[in-house]
Amino acid sequence: MQHPTRTGLAIAATLLVAVACGQGDGDRAATADGTTAETATQATPAAGGRVALEGVPGTAPTANAPDPADAAAAGDGDRLRTTAAALFGTIPERVEELRGQPLSQAQVDLGHMLFFEPRISRSQLITCNTCHSIGTGGADNVPASIGHGWQRGPRNSPTVFNAVFNAAQFWDGRAADLAEQAKGPVQASVEMNSTPELVVDTLRSIPSYVERFGRAFPGQAEPVSFDNMALALEAFEATLVTPDSRFDRWVLGDDSAMDESERRGLELFMASGCASCHNGRNFGGQTYFPFGVIERPGADILPEGDKGRFEVTATASDEYVFRAAPLRNVELTAPYFHSGQVWDLEQAVAIMGTAQLGRELDDDEASAIAAFLRTLTGRQPKVEYPILPPSTPQTPRPSQ
Ligand code: HEC
Ligand code: HEC
Repeated sequence: MQHPTRTGLAIAATLLVAVACGQGDGDRAATADGTTAETATQATPAAGGRVALEGVPGTAPTANAPDPADAAAAGDGDRLRTTAAALFGTIPERVEELRGQPLSQAQVDLGHMLFFEPRISRSQLITCNTCHSIGTGGADNVPASIGHGWQRGPRNSPTVFNAVFNAAQFWDGRAADLAEQAKGPVQASVEMNSTPELVVDTLRSIPSYVERFGRAFPGQAEPVSFDNMALALEAFEATLVTPDSRFDRWVLGDDSAMDESERRGLELFMASGCASCHNGRNFGGQTYFPFGVIERPGADILPEGDKGRFEVTATASDEYVFRAAPLRNVELTAPYFHSGQVWDLEQAVAIMGTAQLGRELDDDEASAIAAFLRTLTGRQPKVEYPILPPSTPQTPRPSQ
């Protein structure tokens, strides 16, 4: 293995080169047309432990929204601000388009109900909100989610907030977008344990849903379908964005939005190489890296049984490879890592330092970076609890 410090420097250097080459512009290029269906690029450690980056991509091209930070970056002389705007960007007030199509309000409204609809689970008790609670940062704040029959799943639940900006979904990126993703939990035996047929039978038995699916997917012969359920959930999730964080306000020119130690944390985040993996407007969610590029964490934090992307690609170099976690609202989404074994943000930062950069961050550095990460908490979405239509005699009954 290469000397840790040198590897850390190599990553930092790669980052600086990326910035100098203007690769941070990926954000803008991707949102300009919003049509190309591209999944997260694979970044693998080249020989010698150095991380090879294929560009510094920004926003997933499935979601389209202008980034006001572009304007701020363009005219501003402040180097830290300009670099941050180019590397990360801001969260827009709203997402206007998905895969090049305007977001449909009828689909958003339907998805809003389905997100809170327990009858799409076999027990008729579990909803998306059970594990991605809107009131608690879009996550569940337990190490590994608990689903059907009180079973504990293998991984921590990532937030659904801003997930629309991720280049692919799940810790291992196995779903290309939110619509593909949404079919997973409904069927997973440890989550909602249902089947597409049971979901469709349930929704078709409730006249108000039949009417709403018809409105959301006009002109279709069978609007109530499993695929359309997933599309509606995706549309609703696209509204779960958290603009106006203190970091965003600072990037847009409000000097008072971040104090000195938070700005120092941002500088450290960029200079020590965190941003070579956590970039784009979600500060992650774009590319895959081994967890433990330099030093593999202990089995308590990185359980041996979960090989990450290897289970998706069956390629040896993908063992223990995971998506660089998106860091927006990270102060609200403890515990950390796919194993959910670390509760303290400072500790998570320090683990990243040794595992990914071969760098022992001292307490001051770790707390400055953590203070900076807390400026990424945005305005949380206000979501009204929907009143759901009653079942009918045709509605399947809950089962175990
Ligand atoms: C029992 C808990 C549970 C339920 C119920 C659940 N999820 Fe999840 N969700 C998880 C876990 C755990 C993961 C991470 C799994 C993985 O990466 O392998 C996840 C991942 C996700 C992601 C990916 C986010 C990202 O950044 O990668 C999205 C989006 C999501 N869920 C949406 C939903 C929707 C929509 C529903 C309802 C149809 C739902 N979830 C129901 C636990 C749950
Ligand atoms: C080589 C790429 C890489 C570098 C460099 C890197 N990270 Fe990470 N980071 C990741 C990956 C991959 C994960 C997901 C790990 C897992 O599977 O749990 C992650 C997870 C995290 C998490 C946990 C987020 C959550 O929701 O659970 C935090 C916090 C974090 N990183 C912060 C940092 C900081 C701060 C730095 C710099 C000191 C840094 N990272 C450097 C790739 C990287």
